[in-house]
Amino acid sequence: MGDRFVDSRWLGRYRQTMPDLAYVNGEILPLNRAMVHVEDRGFQFADSVYEVLRTYDGRLFAVDEHLARLEQSMAAIELTPPLSRAELARILKELVRRSEFREAVVYLQITRGVAPRHRAIPPNARPTVVATVRELAPAPERLSGPGIKIITVTDFRWARCDIKTTALLANVLAFHQARKVGADDAVFVAADGTIEESTAGNVFVVRGGQLLTPPTGARLLAGITRRKIIEAAGVAGVPCREGVLTREELWRADEVFLSSTTAQITPVGWVDGQPVGNGQCGPVTARIYEAFLRLARAASE
Ligand code: PDD
Repeated sequence: MGDRFVDSRWLGRYRQTMPDLAYVNGEILPLNRAMVHVEDRGFQFADSVYEVLRTYDGRLFAVDEHLARLEQSMAAIELTPPLSRAELARILKELVRRSEFREAVVYLQITRGVAPRHRAIPPNARPTVVATVRELAPAPERLSGPGIKIITVTDFRWARCDIKTTALLANVLAFHQARKVGADDAVFVAADGTIEESTAGNVFVVRGGQLLTPPTGARLLAGITRRKIIEAAGVAGVPCREGVLTREELWRADEVFLSSTTAQITPVGWVDGQPVGNGQCGPVTARIYEAFLRLARAASE
């Protein structure tokens, strides 16, 4: 099939040397044959939650943390887990094993299931469980080169951004807004001017050698990568603090980067048309990335 790279650095790079696979309600099949019902509530109402995991050398990273967050998301939307944490972990590991991918992104989605379209939560619908595995280009050993361009966008999402739901239309539109003005991504800013998160990741700032990231809460997703970066900063001896960040502080930062499972750490070179430092990946970001990578490779199972 040959290498087929789609997407670019800030999203993680997909490639394809073998067919991508899917799991749908108990069955593993090629991704392009995987289907769900048109009256699935995930499709009709985004009545569904999800997780995105990554493998390092064929082993899943932070499975337990991801599945714990999925349980929190299910609890928040009153969806009874159709499978235990151990069963889900087994399915994901089996999918990775069958794919034979060394570096892959694993997507897991649980919807409220199939029911005639109505706002009422159906009492007896069986949740739909879908997982996919897609191959990724290997993570680079170190980060260098120009950072991405981001714009800030006043948040127009709902009030529960801590729930990892597939209701991502606002994220899609904010990302599109960024692309239309020649930027690579957008960061949501609350009405009071405080920084929340990007359309698919958390935000970190380096100022005077210290790492800063907005505190978790209803305005942003508590990223697993974010948590691991805080841990990695400790190992790398970089002081790290959770604190409120304003748009002005983002403009004046020494370094800025985004974090997510797929893209890991993405250096930001421009915010709202203004350069961050010299527009390149900064030294603290590079150090954090290396510490993060060591931690991720050592902690994958
Ligand atoms: N997104 N914030 C948002 C809005 C996200 O969508 C994500 C991840 C994160 C970072 O979370 P984590 O470090 O646990 O991946 C923060 C995934 C990758 C996605 O939707 O593809």
